[in-house]
Amino acid sequence: MQKTKACKSLKEAYRDYFLIGATVEPFNLERYSSVLKEHFNSITLENALKWDSTQKKQGAFDFSGADQCIDFAVKNNMKIRGHTLVWHGITPKWVFYDEQGSIIDKERLLERMKEHIHTVMGRYKGKIYCWDVVNEAIENRDNGKQYVDCEWLRICGPDYIKKAFVYAHEADPEALLFYNDYQVEFSIKRAKTLRMIKEMQQEGIPIHGVGIQSHTTMNVPSLYEIKAAIEEFASLGLQIHISEIDISVYDYRDESRIYRSFTPELAEKQARRYEEIFRIFREYKKEITSVTFWGVADDHTWLDSEIRKSWPFVFDENLAPKPAFYKITDF
Ligand code: GLA
Repeated sequence: MQKTKACKSLKEAYRDYFLIGATVEPFNLERYSSVLKEHFNSITLENALKWDSTQKKQGAFDFSGADQCIDFAVKNNMKIRGHTLVWHGITPKWVFYDEQGSIIDKERLLERMKEHIHTVMGRYKGKIYCWDVVNEAIENRDNGKQYVDCEWLRICGPDYIKKAFVYAHEADPEALLFYNDYQVEFSIKRAKTLRMIKEMQQEGIPIHGVGIQSHTTMNVPSLYEIKAAIEEFASLGLQIHISEIDISVYDYRDESRIYRSFTPELAEKQARRYEEIFRIFREYKKEITSVTFWGVADDHTWLDSEIRKSWPFVFDENLAPKPAFYKITDF
């Protein structure tokens, strides 16, 4: 990695605050290896542990990609966040159908869920210390609905969320279990999420934390909303993980704007946004136990398209630290 000036690593800067994580794919482990070892003490697998990677076809579990990433993390003494066990967005279609092509019933679907959770968590017991058990189950739109409409909900009702936590706890009683979602800083979604978690707690469902994904833009969420989310979830006695942070250089929903290059002005503006947000994270070091970037460096991010780049991280395309890096390590 190039160094433009002497600096503390991310993980050293945050040693007394929280773990610093990044996401990896089996295909970019080698490219990022030295940055990962120098700056990060936690790893999340970007896709390799999702249902459509581990059990794309019924019963044909494939852990080849996940094993590579997990071996790397174990060898380098990094903590591993498991992501994710049940997410409607990536559940393969076969999960909901029988051999004749008919939709299965709740009992059968929950059996399949249980088997999946036990197999995946069982394999990495003792290696993966926490899991995003359910991802993105709360309805994002302000349409009066509490849960995302999906096959899981249609077949099982909201019970599928609770059952996932129960099975996860059975599979690895030591693992910390998280509910993970995006835009939970926004007041309406935050209220819905709080309602769900309170109900789970009242029913004795094992849940230990909330993952605030934190896919962030220049203007949204506000600093007020970020603080409110941390405080309100923590008030339920839960650990907070900032589980997927990236800060795009664009404004919220400003899809029509395209920057052709990452100018010094954009770099400065982004650095200030990173500075303000990480200052809040440091203020809440009792509540926040881990902060994970949804990637490593600007050459690989889910935010980019063929025609539009977002430059969302603190390392640039050549893996060199950006102005944002210095703002969040020099405080
Ligand atoms: C969500 C998921 C992640 C990832 C991102 C971007 O945030 O939790 O696993 O898929 O979307 O695609």
